[in-house]
Amino acid sequence: MLIARSSVSDCIALSLQKIVPMHDVTVSRVSARTWPSSIGPPATPYPAFEQDTFERKVVWRIMTLTNTILVTGGAGFIGSNFILRWMTSSATPVVNLDRLTYAGNPENLASLPRRDLYELAHGDIADGEFVAHLLKRHNPRAIVHFAAESHVDRSISSPGEFVRTNIQGTFSLLEQSRLYWQGLSQSERNAFRFLHVSTDEVFGSLEPQEPAFSETTRYAPNSPYAASKAASDHLVRSYFHTYGLPTLITNCSNNYGPFQFPEKLIPLMILNALEGKSLPVYGDGSNIRDWLYVEDHCSAICAVLDRGTPGETYNIGGNSERTNLEVVTAICDIVDAAAPRDSQEPRRNLITFVADRPGHDRRYAINAAKISRELGWSPQETFSRGLRKTVDWYLANNDWIQRVRTGAYREWIRKNYTERETQ
Ligand SMILES: NC(=O)c1ccc[n+]([C@@H]2O[C@H](COP(=O)([O-])OP(=O)(O)OC[C@H]3O[C@@H](n4cnc5c(N)ncnc54)[C@H](O)[C@@H]3O)[C@@H](O)[C@H]2O)c1
Repeated sequence: MLIARSSVSDCIALSLQKIVPMHDVTVSRVSARTWPSSIGPPATPYPAFEQDTFERKVVWRIMTLTNTILVTGGAGFIGSNFILRWMTSSATPVVNLDRLTYAGNPENLASLPRRDLYELAHGDIADGEFVAHLLKRHNPRAIVHFAAESHVDRSISSPGEFVRTNIQGTFSLLEQSRLYWQGLSQSERNAFRFLHVSTDEVFGSLEPQEPAFSETTRYAPNSPYAASKAASDHLVRSYFHTYGLPTLITNCSNNYGPFQFPEKLIPLMILNALEGKSLPVYGDGSNIRDWLYVEDHCSAICAVLDRGTPGETYNIGGNSERTNLEVVTAICDIVDAAAPRDSQEPRRNLITFVADRPGHDRRYAINAAKISRELGWSPQETFSRGLRKTVDWYLANNDWIQRVRTGAYREWIRKNYTERETQ
């Protein structure tokens, strides 16, 4: 009996040594265990992996073997909303691989319920060696890929960054994912998912009477951002067809909600309106977008991850087509009601029309029938309610706004990550 038990445990130990390589301790270019000091210590401090006992490594690996997900770009707008939602509804580990560019803010995740199950891995999706270490160490069952350069205006002034991150970065991430996935057992390979988060902008621009974009609409990207996302979509598709990597692609319309960096239309207009600044609207304000509340986007991603068919793409939209002018006037009215100006002058008077963005797409609209029919998902938020919630969030989070705007959080990141990186 004893002999049998010992040989079983030897066998387990040997297997575990195989899946928990003792020398595999490189976690991050910096320290992936570092938790932002500005938001307090994690609920249960988790020591550096290399300092763990063998038993703790075993427990961690067994716990994570089937449950961990790797999220890229999880300190950005949608990624942080996704992680907050994910970790609130399920107590499973999340590793967040984020380069912490100007758009990545670890503070977005300050309210995480289970910090002991969360790890920020400060790194670049294009750094193959680093990604390979993360995959080997955490054995994720899925990768949810948000990381991208995401602002169209920036893609017009600096397209190179978009090619580097969105195309080369996605390629590198795919390549490491493929190598990792090929090393899994058959059942793990079957269960694994690579979910690529993309945009409706890959489809180009619609005329007023044209039907909304469906999953079979041909690609016709018009900005360097859209072109770089289109290229990444094609790479993801090719990894399914060529290698069998179980990929999923989502193409989503414009998001709005908490934690959106104030360079994008809705937060920019809310903040300018609050401060009585001019509200610059491109062209004549008639460009149309299909707005989706970010929490609805996150629930759609969960549905696709859970029930989507590998190799398929799913369009996600809010059934809320609005002209930019309608959006800005709605914001003015909500802000007027929430924080009336001393002069009582309506904020609509602050609207100014400025020269249009080059190549500005006229209209985006999403036909989300497939995800509704096949996965039972539909948006829960109306535009007016979602917009009101968003304005309320910005009104209630002035500290976050000030830190983002003054660059205080960028300074913190430089001190906590970049400087360490060079030591
Ligand atoms: N915002 C929208 O309305 C919208 C709509 C449809 C699809 N999308 C897509 O959703 C995803 C997330 O968009 P978002 O608005 O949250 O973007 P965001 O700009 O707010 O966040 C991007 C995140 O990616 C990180 N990042 C950038 N380059 C990286 C790299 N090389 N390695 C690792 N991390 C890196 C940033 O630090 C940041 O945390 C993007 O892929 C975008 O194309 C966005």
